[in-house]
Amino acid sequence: MNQVFTQPVVSCTISDENRQFYADVIEGLKAEPKRLNSKYFYDANGDKLFQELMNCPEYYPTDCELEIFSEKTAEICDALIADGDAFDLIELGAGDATKSTYLLKYLLDKKADFTYLPIDISDNVISYLNITLPVTLPGLKITGLNGEYFEMLKKAASISPKRKVVLFLGSNIGNMPLDGAIEFCRELRNNLSEGDMVLIGMDLKKDPRVILAAYNDKGGITREFNLNLLRRINRELHADFDVNKFEHYPTYDPETGACKSYLISLQDQHVTIGNEKIGFKKDEYIYMEISQKFTIMQTDQIAINTGFQPIGQFFDTKKWFIDAVWVAA
Ligand code: TRP
Repeated sequence: MNQVFTQPVVSCTISDENRQFYADVIEGLKAEPKRLNSKYFYDANGDKLFQELMNCPEYYPTDCELEIFSEKTAEICDALIADGDAFDLIELGAGDATKSTYLLKYLLDKKADFTYLPIDISDNVISYLNITLPVTLPGLKITGLNGEYFEMLKKAASISPKRKVVLFLGSNIGNMPLDGAIEFCRELRNNLSEGDMVLIGMDLKKDPRVILAAYNDKGGITREFNLNLLRRINRELHADFDVNKFEHYPTYDPETGACKSYLISLQDQHVTIGNEKIGFKKDEYIYMEISQKFTIMQTDQIAINTGFQPIGQFFDTKKWFIDAVWVAA
């Protein structure tokens, strides 16, 4: 610690909106073992890389869930409409709403009485949806909510007393370790009332080679996606990662169903971030992301253990992915 700063560097160079980002990055890289939070993957460049990933042949989850939504639209919607009373259709992490648009269109055609409330952490996403969806889907009632999932769920409940139907797609639930996923479902249940519903997308266990290939695509997009977070830290937090000195290392454990991505330091090195200096040993890893895969039985167990009753299951033809319907019990 022989570096002396006359000015507190952080307070004058890190923008207000990046303060939490900075705190999380430093905490994660000072931890043992080192980790970075995968929610920071999605800056503008990360969004673009994820789009590319979704178009690459090995990455199957999006295609599978799209197949379910396009082929089983009526069955899914009929399950969600239930007795036909008015409801709020809430989507956690709506993104560009490609999948949900299948449902929205069908529900409008059926003259179902509902309001669509997409929730997203990105205000870009919310303003985009608020503007574009009523144009592509005339007659759609939409109230976009920009913020954290559970805060916005509470807000949704305060805006209207209607029955809630929550969409949680894309196996987003798998981006938490299993105990975190269970905790999340419990909190989701606590934010709902009896009779409310959840439509949850979960990626299933399958041939381990198929899974690993999806997180290790030949085109190297997943690799770039991981390294992009280091580039983002360089740009936004004034760091000096040399991305050539880290390599992407994906793993899949068929026993636990955990698919994890790491970045491995290729040599002993130091990285400066703001006014912090972080040391990396050769072969030391940064844990970047988990994508948990489930058995069908596990999906039911998670529902039951967290206060839901599973009432419907929709699969793609390969049975690689499930969209399950749960009712709050
Ligand atoms: N989390 C998503 C998934 O599990 C997206 C994703 C794919 C991803 N590969 C990744 C996120 C690698 C971070 C790193 O499919």
